[in-house]
Amino acid sequence: MLQPRTAVRKYQYDIIGKLFSKTSGPIIELGVDWGLTTVWLAKLFPKRPIFAVDPWPLDYHVKLLGCAKQADMEAKYRYVLASVAPYPNVTIVREDLHSYGKRYTGEAPGSIFFDASHEREGVISELRLWMPILSATGVAVVHDTNQRPVAEACHTTLVGHRFVRGLCIIDRAVCAGAGLS
Ligand SMILES: C[S@@+](CC[C@H](N)C(=O)[O-])C[C@H]1O[C@@H](n2cnc3c(N)ncnc32)[C@H](O)[C@@H]1O
Repeated sequence: MLQPRTAVRKYQYDIIGKLFSKTSGPIIELGVDWGLTTVWLAKLFPKRPIFAVDPWPLDYHVKLLGCAKQADMEAKYRYVLASVAPYPNVTIVREDLHSYGKRYTGEAPGSIFFDASHEREGVISELRLWMPILSATGVAVVHDTNQRPVAEACHTTLVGHRFVRGLCIIDRAVCAGAGLS
């Protein structure tokens, strides 16, 4: 269950692992769901703080992830807490990524994984909020850019990014000057 389930996911994990290993400092995951990627990151980067952010909003899960009731959200949250329990470097933040980003005062993250909204305006607002928080030497990755609204949001918001197999890769140094620094 907590292993990459498809060849594409494995390929994406290989890319993300290589990119994130070139950075230092906290790792932020925006959008957790069952914590599949959270646990994978925790295993790969046991010495780096990982903040995994998700309020588990019922409306999102009803629309996109096949859940029907609040009890499902509580079950997912409890499952994720249990999954990350062996990894003391992981903090689960049950909060909207916007409010968390506005109050984030920790060390600049070296890596951010964007995997929350999959709507154009939602992804744009996530990038606008979190990219300036990313370390000057950091790397961010946006997931699911095979979905058109996600890819459009990247094109609208960023420069210097590139797409690889359903991922948008953003090197913070490259993006400086695009109104994001
Ligand atoms: C595609 S799932 C994340 C999958 C996970 N990253 C993985 O790799 O297994 C998207 C998640 O984003 C979360 N989400 C949606 N809007 C959010 C927001 N405003 N802040 C934080 N998380 C949000 C949803 O609750 C959902 O669990």
